[in-house]
Amino acid sequence: MAYLKQQRPEKVTVPSLRASKERGERLVCLTAYDYPTARIVDEAGTDIILVGDSVGNVVLGYDTTVPVTLDEMVRHTRAVRRGTERALLVADMPYGSYHTGADDAVRAALRLVKEGGAEAVKLEGGRARVETVGRLVAEEIPVMGHIGLTPQSVNKLGGFRLQGKTAEAARALVEDARALEAAGAFALVLEVVPREIARIVTASVSIPTIGIGAGEHCDAQVLVIHDLLGLSFSPTRPRFVRQYADLRAQMTEAISRFAEDVRGGAYPAENESYPLPREAAAELEAAPISTEGDAGVERP
Ligand code: KIV
Repeated sequence: MAYLKQQRPEKVTVPSLRASKERGERLVCLTAYDYPTARIVDEAGTDIILVGDSVGNVVLGYDTTVPVTLDEMVRHTRAVRRGTERALLVADMPYGSYHTGADDAVRAALRLVKEGGAEAVKLEGGRARVETVGRLVAEEIPVMGHIGLTPQSVNKLGGFRLQGKTAEAARALVEDARALEAAGAFALVLEVVPREIARIVTASVSIPTIGIGAGEHCDAQVLVIHDLLGLSFSPTRPRFVRQYADLRAQMTEAISRFAEDVRGGAYPAENESYPLPREAAAELEAAPISTEGDAGVERP
């Protein structure tokens, strides 16, 4: 696995992403929420690791990303930080952490950077976020934008649907993208928009676009790692999710085999436990410990 990282050993940084776009290189982005996953994702050569607030859906069992707290994001970001070397580490600003003013946004982002170890933060919204993005960038915090389907707006949108379907909505998306770039965003997630619109947005900005359900014209592609690995419990699978493994089935099978071995007495085998040193065994044979009493349990 680590061979992919060996092929591209150089650390991914905010400036190197723009250079990659200029060279026409396609970038790879995945989510991670814990240390082991971060290690695997990083060692496999992923360019950007996003500690998404999708942690709420796929790890914490919430229905939406709305309840995810800043403390939860900081905790998961710290774990991912410990497992990440090469990839650029981006953490999502959770709902509510940047909606009450630029000062609050800076405070929240600083926690993700200083306590969590994130190298950049991501927040949702277009022109309405320009002031916040500008302020964060002025405080040396790189910002990734996120437009199109913005899951934190689920209550306003009334569900998760394709965005940018009309010419007017498409124009608005291009304006949002340009405004975020002008405010200093270094990259932009485009979520669930028609591929033609993603192509226009990608051509309209000089920062990389990172598509999820936005077609092949984006500079980078991102998926939620649980979707890619078949670990998601979502009742529906959006058309853009390509599942590369069925870890849920593999885990269920492994756990069932363990349970069968335990129940049938096949686990643990002799070489999976520790013998008592000979001297102690001799001592105990000479003066046995009584197994009689309240705590003694008879086994067949
Ligand atoms: O929270 C998340 O995982 C995201 C990606 C899907 C872009 O925002």
